[in-house]
Amino acid sequence: MTAMIYPTTNPALAEQMVVARGEGPYIFDQQGKRYLEGMAGLWCTALGYGNEEIIETAQRQMRELSFSHMFGGKTHPSAIELADKLAAMVPMTDGRVFLGNSGSDANDTLLKLIRYHAEASGQPQRIKVIAREQGYHGVTMASAALTAIPTNHTHFQLPFEALGVLRTGSAHYYRGAVEGETESNFVKRRATELEALILAEGPDTIAAMIAEPVSGAGGVIVPPDGYFEAIQAVLDRYGIWLWDDEVICGFGRLGADFGANTMEMKPRMMTLAKALSSAYVPVSAAVVQGEIADCINASAAEVGVFGHGYTYSGHPLGCAVASKVIDIYVRDRIFDHAAEVGAYLQSRLREFADHPLVGEVSGIGMIGALELVADRASKRPFEGMKVGQFCAKAAEEKGLIIRPLGGNRIAVCPPLIIENVHVAELADKLLAALNTTLDWVTAEKLM
Ligand SMILES: Cc1ncc(COP(=O)(O)O)c(C=O)c1O
Repeated sequence: MTAMIYPTTNPALAEQMVVARGEGPYIFDQQGKRYLEGMAGLWCTALGYGNEEIIETAQRQMRELSFSHMFGGKTHPSAIELADKLAAMVPMTDGRVFLGNSGSDANDTLLKLIRYHAEASGQPQRIKVIAREQGYHGVTMASAALTAIPTNHTHFQLPFEALGVLRTGSAHYYRGAVEGETESNFVKRRATELEALILAEGPDTIAAMIAEPVSGAGGVIVPPDGYFEAIQAVLDRYGIWLWDDEVICGFGRLGADFGANTMEMKPRMMTLAKALSSAYVPVSAAVVQGEIADCINASAAEVGVFGHGYTYSGHPLGCAVASKVIDIYVRDRIFDHAAEVGAYLQSRLREFADHPLVGEVSGIGMIGALELVADRASKRPFEGMKVGQFCAKAAEEKGLIIRPLGGNRIAVCPPLIIENVHVAELADKLLAALNTTLDWVTAEKLM
């Protein structure tokens, strides 16, 4: 073992693979074995590995200006270009952009902006935020409190109450519906529950509701038809902002520019990271609607400073790379490509619906998941995470990276640049992994 404390790892299972290099949609381990990166790293390497244009851009930026901060009146061309590009692109009128380094810090920033705005606009009590079960929003103290995944909470003594975090149900119909409930009644119930929560807490104490268009780490949960329409209507009734966490869904993942457009969300705040730079370098953006930024700016000007910013907010390397990546998305029509190949991916994933281990197939565009269950008719789950983990390991042995999530759901989220031939490789290897898992589960009498 090295001296490393590994992130989001069971220490007993650390250092199982040393990834040595990447090329297109493939990675290679130290022994030279090739794997199709069916998870795009951590839902992020949208353009795959080794893109020479991006590498070239990074080199040029580092030669020209390797660092410049943006505190106290300074800025630089790459940051200005990126902020303007993002503002023009997001589904928000007059969006304003704060740059950071990760999805977690961008969500942290937005939570602070909510508080700043609450004070500055004369409603200091309006700081609570509604977050959903199974949501994932990061791991800083504040973003982990928004996250609703038990392993991200255990032992951390997170300040849920101090941060005003409220919880409402997820959009997961397969697991969340009551016996005999239709999808549309499930949606109605979620909207009713949300409204009841708002009324119980006091609408004027709640600033926003955070939601991923499709929940990723919580299980790749695609909301049923009409879900966000119903949620948005409730929020609008009480002047509560929809805070759209696009860290996974942004930049083509669902087959369109932003998940908000696919899901008909009308966000007032957005979080962007991951595919923003196709994960070539760390960069994130917290975006808010102009009137929020104007209120903060006016108040900060009175105080003399807006007291929030990271050393690496707007790091030139991140900005130049993200700007180039966005240019490539637009020039090469990557979002259309993701929609096209994504339709084939979804059709191949749906073929697993009849597999004896599969309870649910979910997905849209270039993201999907299978829930492995002990009994399909009753939806009886397997205990713990062992079965999903076994399946991911079996896939790895066959040269495919997938990700085991809670509830024995296994996720796929390949780079957006893959072609149908890669989808076929993914589907074939996934089937082989499922069959190996079925043999094991049968031998172990787990079903
Ligand atoms: C939806 C969502 N939000 C926020 C984050 C946190 O991003 P980061 O890991 O870059 O801090 C993630 C990470 O997976 C995510 O999926």
